[in-house]
Amino acid sequence: MQTDTTALVDDAAADGRFHVHARIYSDPALYEQELRHVFERTWSFLGVASQLVKPHDYLTTHIGRTPVLVTRGGDGTIRAFVNACRHKGALLSRLEQGNRRNHVCPYHGWSYDSSGRNVLIKDQADGAYGAPFASQSHDLVPLGAFDEYRGLLFGSLSADVPPLPEFLGEARPLLDLALQQGEHGMELVPGRCVYTYRGNWKLQMDNGLDFYHLTSTHAAFMGVVQRRESERKGNTDARQFDWRARLVQEGGAFGFDHGHAAIWLEQPQPEKRPLWPVVDEVRSRVGEVRARWMLKLRNLNIFPNLQIADSTSLILRTFRPLGPDLTEMRVHCLAPIGEPDEQRAWRLRQFEDFFNPSGLATSDDTVIYEDCQAGSVDALGWLQGFQRGLGADLVSPTPDADELGMRPRYSVKGTFRMQNEVCFHAAYREWARLMAAGAEGRPAYPGLDGGRP
Ligand code: FES
Ligand SMILES: [Fe+2]
Repeated sequence: MQTDTTALVDDAAADGRFHVHARIYSDPALYEQELRHVFERTWSFLGVASQLVKPHDYLTTHIGRTPVLVTRGGDGTIRAFVNACRHKGALLSRLEQGNRRNHVCPYHGWSYDSSGRNVLIKDQADGAYGAPFASQSHDLVPLGAFDEYRGLLFGSLSADVPPLPEFLGEARPLLDLALQQGEHGMELVPGRCVYTYRGNWKLQMDNGLDFYHLTSTHAAFMGVVQRRESERKGNTDARQFDWRARLVQEGGAFGFDHGHAAIWLEQPQPEKRPLWPVVDEVRSRVGEVRARWMLKLRNLNIFPNLQIADSTSLILRTFRPLGPDLTEMRVHCLAPIGEPDEQRAWRLRQFEDFFNPSGLATSDDTVIYEDCQAGSVDALGWLQGFQRGLGADLVSPTPDADELGMRPRYSVKGTFRMQNEVCFHAAYREWARLMAAGAEGRPAYPGLDGGRP
């Protein structure tokens, strides 16, 4: 039975009210519907082209529960497939990343080349197959849609999605601020961090845009940073900000169509950003305005599974739901290709210091997610954590967005202390829209003219 999701997101922002029901994070039936109506009917982030530089390079990932293989063929083209053998459905490639001209299924040995073509059916000649077998395609099943935006690879199980540029829409200028920092492009720094937490995937989705928790959840981290500054000892390689100076800074949020959203904050200490030493080069390439925006703190969510956060370091996070109360996180450090060693080391020291389970801040967050999961019970009813900023002007466009040539659906601005929660609305609006469309058997994206762009 489908759940009426309109009873779970109370979207009356125009009247100053926006509520999300606690059940949304814990109900197993809802989770099942999310996989089908959200993850299986929209674009998901898959990986970065810098992971697939040479012919036959590949990576594996998931869209919701579906395993995905992304591979660069011998012809140089990157393609994406369901990572499962056509014979009996065995997972084809078990490794996260590698280089293979052929992918051989571990079960009965069917083989596929790096462009997804079936090149061997073991003992086919002796198999006494019926005539129709020869006319069937045995190639890997391609995703419904696959495309790249400035090196970011996205795929969809459904073909009935808008073209990727349209899906990313007005959030693209913010993506560009992360993706144009390198003169020679951007790459994932080798190595990554994978971990799970016992909580719903939307807890991470929200937290990526949550300014409000910094001064409470990360109070200990702030104390460490201040002691390093005042006592000039500890990990001084990580040049963290003076967090007290941030509290009076101006900042805000942008919300976009298709669930994307961002928060930003002026950076009073740009010299603590790893980009600072090369900002003149960056300015000459992207212009004064964009270079200035690159030095602000910016966290961007591309719904449903990508976060790019540019604060103490530039990170790319993707998450995968494993259950209503279990989520896998994958965290990478993103960096300009060919940046000087000293700058790369600085970036990495800041990345390690703040992020990942071994860092000083991520563990604060994951424990809190598990606390939130524990309390996301029916009895709690509507959550009140989506209302800060609703009394301010929600306007669009704004001079800030205009500077970037961007037209968000809404935006809000104030000092850091507003710590707005309207940044969360775009994702829950889209979640509710996709869930309702799926439940009612309607297309996820009406107006696509038969679904195909
Ligand atoms: S499942 Fe792959 S060859 Fe049988
Ligand atoms: Fe946090």
